[in-house]
Amino acid sequence: MAKAKATAFFCKECGHESSKWMGQCPACKEWNTLVEAPVHKEIPGRAVFCGAAIASAQPSSLTEISSGQEARIPTGFSELDGVLGGGLVPASLLLVGGDPGIGKSTLLLQVCRNLAADGRKVLYISGEESLKQIKLRAERIGIFRGDLQFLCETNLDVIASLLQKHMPEIVIIDSIQTMYREEVAGAPGSVGQVRESTHVLMRLAKGLGITIFIVGHVTKDGSVAGPRMLEHMVDTVLYFEGERNVAYRVLRGVKNRFGSTNEIGVFEMGEQGLAEVRNPSEFMLNGKPEGASGSVVTCSLEGTRPILLEIQALICRTNFGMPRRTAAGTDYNRVNLLMAVLEKRLGLKLSECDAYVNIAGGMRISEPSLDLGIVLAIVSSYQDKPLNGKTLVFGEVGLSGEVRGVSMAEQRVGEAVKLGFECCVLPKSNLASLKKIEGIRLIGVENLQEAVRVFG
Ligand code: TYD
Ligand code: MG
Repeated sequence: MAKAKATAFFCKECGHESSKWMGQCPACKEWNTLVEAPVHKEIPGRAVFCGAAIASAQPSSLTEISSGQEARIPTGFSELDGVLGGGLVPASLLLVGGDPGIGKSTLLLQVCRNLAADGRKVLYISGEESLKQIKLRAERIGIFRGDLQFLCETNLDVIASLLQKHMPEIVIIDSIQTMYREEVAGAPGSVGQVRESTHVLMRLAKGLGITIFIVGHVTKDGSVAGPRMLEHMVDTVLYFEGERNVAYRVLRGVKNRFGSTNEIGVFEMGEQGLAEVRNPSEFMLNGKPEGASGSVVTCSLEGTRPILLEIQALICRTNFGMPRRTAAGTDYNRVNLLMAVLEKRLGLKLSECDAYVNIAGGMRISEPSLDLGIVLAIVSSYQDKPLNGKTLVFGEVGLSGEVRGVSMAEQRVGEAVKLGFECCVLPKSNLASLKKIEGIRLIGVENLQEAVRVFG
């Protein structure tokens, strides 16, 4: 059969495929991201035409398919297991994306350590670091035991034959941007190489029954293909997020073929690698000032997990010219909108003030349920009246100054009770669905006028 040498254009950001070159990607609207790459030779459907495949292809009805739950492999980190939906699924392909230096290699090395200690055969393949560098990192993390092997290699054909020979149970590829196949044109990290490498790894995972973690760096300049492009090819996509200068890291599930998405796991980077943060609310409220104005505790929901956060606002008179406004950790436009609502509905003279709003701890949240917390933090700073430190506030604020209900109010209040909060200001519409809860006073509010009465 003659080899078709077809090429197409692929977006470096989102993987969108196009038959012709375009300046702007029609899918993700990024400019100058389309590059030419060979189309993968094994297009789905082509196999249908080869004899062996025709003989073995057999459709099944739903009743013939067993839905038996796959045995999950615990990773030794309950935070990670939670994001995965109960542990690793054997023979799956996972992508762990994140900014360089955020801690992906550290996390996966620790996962390897846990799995090897659990009696599993693990292989860590690094294309970025020397064995010596890996050893140095491992020394910070602690004692390793069990069957854990390391390899420095970037040639995927070498890796493929090694996997067939050694048959490990779990493999780490750190990172996909360093892997290449000789028969594919382009340097490692190019769109063609990254796509092809991921295809090969997918076939190895399914064919040999190996669970493979792929590390993918998020790249800003676009000189190498980013992990966004691979999202549709893998089973599970996790992103490791955080700021370099704050210790905690959030592991977020973005895609999961074997469970729910949008669950998060929280870790803290320390001297000895990453440690799980079992109670993120406590962690986030650590260092909250007592009796300070402009500080309000609210509750955001990440997946099914409530996390208490402190919102801080600082409002002061503008000395000259345009008022300055900043929003760190939340949506700037939303903060501006809420300030406009406050100005109109409560008559606060905010247009003469500088306003700085910040989510303490460096979390980034844009959930409408934070609105009421932001509003009360602004009012508290404006009037220089502190809110009782044992009060939780949540609710969405509409343009007419009405306070609208939010989802999962019960979980939010439950988290507050767990951490010893005594009072909760929440939308009146949520109050009806809540049972009376011991130890916490619930104040339902319908609009901003009612909400600001909590300042007395
Ligand atoms: P790394 O896992 O190499 O990041 P990535 O693989 O995502 O590029 O993490 C590197 C950072 O983590 C580096 O700045 C050092 C820091 N670190 C610690 O603070 N403590 C530790 O125990 C380890 C191993 C790393
Ligand atoms: Mg790394």
